[in-house]
Amino acid sequence: MALFGKRKAHVIGVDIGSSAVKVVELKRAGSGYQLAAFGMAEVPLGAIEGGEIREPGAVQAAIGSALADSKTDATDAVIGVSGGSVIAKRVKLPKMSEAELAESIRWEAEQYIPFDIDDVNLDFQIVAGGGPQIDVMLAAVKKGKVESYAEVAKAAGLNVVVVDADVFALETQYEHNYAGETNEVVAIVNIGHENTNTNILQGGVSVYARDIFMGGARYASSIAQRFNLPLPEAEAVLRGKEGSVAWAQVGPVLELVSQELGQEIQRTLDYFGTTAEHERLDRIFLSGGCALIPGLRDFLSSQWGIDVSLADPFRQVKIAAPGVSPDEIQRVAPLATVATGLAMRSPDDRR
Ligand SMILES: Nc1ncnc2c1ncn2[C@@H]1O[C@H](COP(=O)(O)OP(=O)(O)OP(=O)(O)O)[C@@H](O)[C@H]1O
Ligand SMILES: [Mg+2]
Repeated sequence: MALFGKRKAHVIGVDIGSSAVKVVELKRAGSGYQLAAFGMAEVPLGAIEGGEIREPGAVQAAIGSALADSKTDATDAVIGVSGGSVIAKRVKLPKMSEAELAESIRWEAEQYIPFDIDDVNLDFQIVAGGGPQIDVMLAAVKKGKVESYAEVAKAAGLNVVVVDADVFALETQYEHNYAGETNEVVAIVNIGHENTNTNILQGGVSVYARDIFMGGARYASSIAQRFNLPLPEAEAVLRGKEGSVAWAQVGPVLELVSQELGQEIQRTLDYFGTTAEHERLDRIFLSGGCALIPGLRDFLSSQWGIDVSLADPFRQVKIAAPGVSPDEIQRVAPLATVATGLAMRSPDDRR
């Protein structure tokens, strides 16, 4: 999905999260990709809050640090947006060509989008056809959101060529990494700091996508509250820093949040079950920083009675970046899923 864009041949994926900026540069290697650069930098707590950039200077600095960390010299970038001002909806429309749809999409979309249609950037993808009707995945993002993210990226020296939705970047990387074996029905669940992006794919095509406003911030605030710690300290505990609190004490606090998060994600999965002409969900792929929380994958797997695997955005990507060790990159791979999907946007794809 391109919610805004003019496409270029070689781009970097820049994921501006509320916890960290992630930068991925891929180069073509035969029919596949190799990782040319990876970088990451923390976003100060509160600089992005409630899906809004509250401190543009701090976010710009974090983008600059992530670019410096990656050592890339590319500046054409695909950035992502997520959260409450992003809507993705699969709808049925009368059969028409892509060109006709492009003409009428604003009018058709109006009834499905809960925002003023003049206030959104809109895109679509025809995901199924054949009969008298076509299935179309609509995506809409509030213009203000696209503008504020593009602006801060520009201020950091980037030339923003496409603004995509994080939830679709999950799908883009899956298509590449599981090309030829997408017969399963899978859900990719990216648990970040403020948001959890869920995309359910059938035959490699999105059938349902939704962002939930919950993530690592909830874990950190529960730890802070329970052990009377400042938030940054609680964040460090969540990431496994030994010290003020023993992990054995933290476990039960995490489990309460995991239960709540698990139920929230379950609601999305149930909704898919009641709407789509679908098969059963075969597998869930977990990504985002919270995929690294020890025990979360097993917890969700037993709560849902379904196989939960870690997403590996580099499954079909050769790791050849100078100064990046394959072991190190595998450790942080779940954090790089969105940035990798953004970097995989090919210059001429109509999505
Ligand atoms: N080992 C870890 N390393 C990094 N982050 C971790 C780890 N364990 C847990 N987390 C949590 O994961 C979250 C960061 O994940 P991620 O980078 O995917 O979020 P984000 O993309 O910045 O946020 P969002 O997309 O929600 O705005 C934080 O809340 C962080 O505390
Ligand atoms: Mg994120």
